[in-house]
Amino acid sequence: MALKLNTAYFLCYKLPSKSSHGIRSSAALMPSTLYTKTNRRQAHNNVEVTHSMPPEKIEIFESLEGWAQHNLLMHLKPVEKCWQPMDFLPEPESEGFYEQLQELRERCKELPDDYLVVLVGDMITEEALPSYHSLMNSTDGIRDETGASLNAWAIWTRGWTAEENRHGDLLNKYLYLSGRVDMKQIEKTIQYLIGSGMDVKLENNPYNGLIYTSFQERATFISHANTARVAKEHGDLKLAQICGIIAADEKRHETAYTKIVEKLFEIDPDNSILALAGMMKKKIKMPAHLMYDGQDDKIFEHFSAVAQKLGVYTAKDYAEILEFLIGKWGVEKLTGLSSEGRKAQDFVCGLPRKIRRLEDKAQARMRDKKAYTTVPFSWIFGRELRV
Ligand SMILES: [Fe+2]
Ligand SMILES: [Fe+2]
Repeated sequence: MALKLNTAYFLCYKLPSKSSHGIRSSAALMPSTLYTKTNRRQAHNNVEVTHSMPPEKIEIFESLEGWAQHNLLMHLKPVEKCWQPMDFLPEPESEGFYEQLQELRERCKELPDDYLVVLVGDMITEEALPSYHSLMNSTDGIRDETGASLNAWAIWTRGWTAEENRHGDLLNKYLYLSGRVDMKQIEKTIQYLIGSGMDVKLENNPYNGLIYTSFQERATFISHANTARVAKEHGDLKLAQICGIIAADEKRHETAYTKIVEKLFEIDPDNSILALAGMMKKKIKMPAHLMYDGQDDKIFEHFSAVAQKLGVYTAKDYAEILEFLIGKWGVEKLTGLSSEGRKAQDFVCGLPRKIRRLEDKAQARMRDKKAYTTVPFSWIFGRELRV
């Protein structure tokens, strides 16, 4: 059932019922002091599709609960075996605290501005965890119905969130102690971002949500592994260790999410390939794409450009992630698909090459035009970087 909803519906913030499919034309009115121009523009142009998974498919996720119990929860680490931020930070209760702090600040002196901007952007992305938790819990078939449900999907989402929470926490504290960045601007950016949410077109559909999260976990694994590499190049071995240990968590989460989607491809290949093609057609937006610092409407694009320039996360990584997922899920070898499914399969399998070709052309155009500009970043006290 497609449901068209009017503006009044949005103004009263009524939530759609669990089983309804909705297409919502969004001209939502948002308080101008809370949101970026990009955010407001997006709201005006937006058509929201919600609950796009046919209700009968819910049974698939109910029937997979036992599977999740045995095959998914094993990828969560018991709390007592997990690292905690304090394992990598100066100990405030210790007599050596000031000395440890001094050492940390000395190490951080060598970190260049472009690296700091990328690390801050990564940290802010991690700190918007409430949005990611909320998104998982608005996904049909896998949501936590009570907030403390003993359903395996719900246990997974809470455990995953609890593990993720350490990432932003550790990076935030480290950057604070470094004295190299404008923490108040960073805190404002986090507040803006959580207030804006994220709009990555998952349609409350678990096929979309689990594909998106598989992609993102691998993207964050690559990004944190690269910030570890660059920290090492600049001599901050502790920071390299921090970024490396976070990357290892992301890798474990990637294994878990890709395993779920692998199972979906096994039992429902047609719907899975259609969901993957659909997500790729919409393009995988980064979770922090609505980032704003109160000053720069394009701060997310500018942060991404610095990350690309530094080689921490690039358009080529995007293509490689897709290629990796295609291999992991055996997309090229799928058989018995509907004609729509086969078209989706062809589209997805041809996409990495297409993305690389477009990226090469875009890079060549940039080089020809020397189309670089410099922008100030509030996170580093307004110092300018080339993007
Ligand atoms: Fe994370
Ligand atoms: Fe993650």
